[in-house]
Amino acid sequence: MSADKRYYITTPIYYVNDVPHIGHAYTTLACDVLARFKRIDGFDVHFLTGTDEHGQKVEKSAATAGVKPQEFTDRVSQNFRDLADAMNYSHDDFIRTTEERHIEASQAIWTKLKENGHIYLGSYAGWYAVRDEAFYDESELTEGEGGKKIAPSGAEVEWVEEPSYFFDLSKWQKPLLQFYEDNPDFIAPRSRRNEVTSFVNGGLRDLSISRTSFKWGVPVPDDPDHIMYVWLDALTNYITAVGYPDINSDAFSKHWPADLHMVGKDILRFHAVYWPAFLMGAGIDVPKRVFAHGWWTNEGQKISKSVGNIIDPNEIVDTYGLDQVRYFLMREVPFGNDGDFSHRAMISRINSDLANDLGNLCQRVLSMIHKNCDAQLPACQSSGIENLPVYSTLTDAQQLLDTVRGHVDNQAFHEALEEIWRVVRDANRTVDESAPWTLRKTDPEAMASVLYILAEIIRHFAILLQPFMPESCAKILDQLAVPEDARGFKHLHSADGTDFDDNALSAGTPLPKPEGVFPRFVEDDAA
Ligand code: MSP
Repeated sequence: MSADKRYYITTPIYYVNDVPHIGHAYTTLACDVLARFKRIDGFDVHFLTGTDEHGQKVEKSAATAGVKPQEFTDRVSQNFRDLADAMNYSHDDFIRTTEERHIEASQAIWTKLKENGHIYLGSYAGWYAVRDEAFYDESELTEGEGGKKIAPSGAEVEWVEEPSYFFDLSKWQKPLLQFYEDNPDFIAPRSRRNEVTSFVNGGLRDLSISRTSFKWGVPVPDDPDHIMYVWLDALTNYITAVGYPDINSDAFSKHWPADLHMVGKDILRFHAVYWPAFLMGAGIDVPKRVFAHGWWTNEGQKISKSVGNIIDPNEIVDTYGLDQVRYFLMREVPFGNDGDFSHRAMISRINSDLANDLGNLCQRVLSMIHKNCDAQLPACQSSGIENLPVYSTLTDAQQLLDTVRGHVDNQAFHEALEEIWRVVRDANRTVDESAPWTLRKTDPEAMASVLYILAEIIRHFAILLQPFMPESCAKILDQLAVPEDARGFKHLHSADGTDFDDNALSAGTPLPKPEGVFPRFVEDDAA
C-alpha cells in the first residue's frame, strides 16, 4: 500500500474521573466518521482512543471514592470502552496511560528531551488548576466567590511551590511560529489557528513538567521523587500506541506522524503548542494536523456536573436511536462551532432529514419495485433515458464523492451531509415528477427505467453515508442486495465509466421485502 494511503487519527484520551457524556461521545464520533470514511476510501487506517488515568485530579477522585487509584481507574476506564461499544466506534486500539507500554514510552521521551538538553531542575512557584491539570499566570486569573482565584476556564486554582523540572518552552517560540507558517493547515479551523499564533507571539515561559506533591503518575527517570506532569505523559500516548520508543518498528514508520489529532477547543493549546515543542525537542516528527471542535450546551445551558444537566449518550441513543444521534451530532452544528443540544432540534432532524427525505425516498422506491417489478431490480432502457427527470439527479449523485471527500478532508462534516441532502431532496422531487405509478399503465418500460435509476441513486447515497450511519446504511444496501464487498467508494460510479459501469446494480437481482429504515419520531413515544 502506498504511503499516502495511510491514515492515523486520534481522539483525546479521556479523564477517567468523569462519567462519559455527550462531549466525549462527540469528539470520538467525529474521529469515527473520519476513520470509517478513510477505510471505505481505501486507506489503511489506524484509529486510536483511550483514557488518561494519571495526575492529581484522578488521584483525588480515587481518594473520594475510597479506593486505590489503580482499582479506581480499572473500573472507570471501562465506562469509556462501554461508550465506544454503544456508539459503534471503530477504533483499532484503546490505550490506557497506566499500561506498561505507555510508562515506558513516557520515560523514554523524557530521557530523550533530557539528553537533548531541554530539561533542567528548578523550582516552581505559581498557580495550578487541578481540574484542568494546567498552570496559569497571575495575569490570566480573575477573582471568584470568597476571593478565590479563578482560571479563564472557570476552574479554581491553588498556589503551588515545589522543586520541579522544567522544559525549555521559551526557546521554542520561533521554531513554533516558523512551523505554523510553513504548515498553514496544521491548526484548524482558521480562527483557532490565529488564537494559537497570537498566544505564541506573546512569548512562552518555560514549562514545569514534574511535581513532587503527589504520587499517582509516571516517575521521572533517575529521580523518582518527581512525577511527570500529566500532560507530558498524556500527550505521549499518541506515539506509545504506534510503538515508541521503537522508532524503527513497522508501526511507527507506518503511522507516525499522525494525520489528525481531533480535540475540543479547550485543549488546543496543549496539542498545538506544547506537543509540537516536545516532539521537536525529542527529534520526532510533528503531527500533520490538529482540529479543535466546539462545545455543546444543553438547551442553551453550559453542561456541567454541578448544574446536573449532563447528557448521557446512552440515554439519547435509547430515546432517539443510534444512527439518528450520530447524524444529528454531525449535521446540526457546523463542525468547529459551538452548538446547542435540544430535544426539539433533534426531533426536527429525525423527522425531516431522515424520515421525510432519505427514509421516504428509500421506502417509496423499494416498495414500488417490490410491488411492480416482481421484487427484482428492474431493467433500465439502454437509450432515451437522458430525457427522464431522474437522469440529471443520477449524474448529481454520481458526482457527490469528490465534493463530499473534500468536505470530510476539511472536517466540514455538516457540509458533506448538506451536499448529500441537496441531492436526496432532488431525488424525492424527481420521483414526483416522473410519477412511476402513472407510467406503470402508460409506459411500463419507462417506469422500470425510472425505478432502476432511483435505486442506483439510493445505492450512491447509502455507500456515501456509511461513515455517518453505518447500521442504517447497511440495512439499505442489504435491501438493494449490494454484496458486502461491493460497498467501498471505489464501487461508486467511476467518472470515466459509462452511464452504468460494472459496479452498478444489475437488473434481475431479487430484492428482499423492503422495511422502513428511518421511522418518524412520535412525541408521545419519548415518555
Ligand atoms: N485528558 C484530557 C485530554 C488529554 S489528550 C492527550 C482531557 N480529557 S477530558 O475528558 O476532559 O476531555 C476530553 C474531550 O472532551 C475534550 O476534547 C473536550 O473538549 C471534550 N468535551 C468535554 N465537554 C464537552 C462539551 N460540552 N462539548 C463538546 N466537547 C466537550 O481534556
